[in-house]
Amino acid sequence: MKVVAIVPAAGLGTRMRPAAPEKTGTSRKQFMLLDGSPILLHTIRKLLACPLIDEIFVALRREDLRWVGELIQAELPAKPVHLVEGGETRQESVEKALSVVDPDTDLVVVHDAVRPFIDLETIEKVIREAAITGGAIVGIVPVDTVKQVHLTKVRATIPRDHLILAQTPQVFRFDILREAFEKARQDGYVGTDESSLVERLEKIDITVVLGSDRNIKITKPSDMELARFFLAEEKAKAQAQRGS
Ligand code: C5P
Repeated sequence: MKVVAIVPAAGLGTRMRPAAPEKTGTSRKQFMLLDGSPILLHTIRKLLACPLIDEIFVALRREDLRWVGELIQAELPAKPVHLVEGGETRQESVEKALSVVDPDTDLVVVHDAVRPFIDLETIEKVIREAAITGGAIVGIVPVDTVKQVHLTKVRATIPRDHLILAQTPQVFRFDILREAFEKARQDGYVGTDESSLVERLEKIDITVVLGSDRNIKITKPSDMELARFFLAEEKAKAQAQRGS
C-alpha cells in the first residue's frame, strides 16, 4: 500500500497580527517559531516519524520553496519530501500537490501545516481506517453549545449529539480524492477541507476517528502560548521515555 501525505503550507496567515514577526521575519503562522523551529517543521517531523507514510508533498508559496527546502533537507529526511508551489486557496494548494502525486498511490493523507501536535497513534489509526472504508477523518466532539445565527441574532440551537469538529489528518483513497477535486472544480465549489469535497460525490461513507483537542490548528496569536505549553509537555514526555 502506497501512502503519501500532502501538507498545505502556502497560506498567508491573515488572522495573525502582521506586526508580530518572529525570527523568520514573517507573521505567517506555519513559519512562526516554536522552540527554534518553524511550526511547519514540527508538523513534518510527525509525518516523517509515521512508518505508514511513504512520501510527503509540501505546498508552499513560490518565495518559500528554496529556504524551506533547505530547512527540510537539514533534517536528513528518511523518506522523499517534495515541494510544490501552492495556490490561492487551501483547496488549490492541495489540488496542485495532488496533480504531481504518483498515480500508483493508494491513500492520500492531507494534514494542515499548522497542526504540529498530531500524535502518531491518531495518524496511524486514521490511515488504517481509510484503507478499509476509502475515507476517514480525525474529529473531536464539541463541548460548547452550537448556535445558528444571522448577524447577531440567534436563530437556532444545533443538537450537539450529531456534531463533530473536523480536524486533519483527512485520509482518502487517491482515486476518490482526485474525482472529488475534479467535481469541485467543475462545479466551482470551494471547501475548507477535503472531506467536504468527497462528501459531494456521495460515493463512500467517510468515517470519523476521534482525535484530541491537543491537535490544535494554530490560527491566532494566543494559540502560540498553548503551543509552547504543549511542546514543553511533549519534550518532557519524550525525555521521560528515553530515561525509562
Ligand atoms: O486558511 P486556513 O487557515 O484554513 O489554512 C489551513 C492550511 O492551509 C494552512 O496550513 C495554510 O498554510 C494552508 N493554505 C495553503 N494555501 C493557501 C491557503 C492556506 O496551503 N492558499
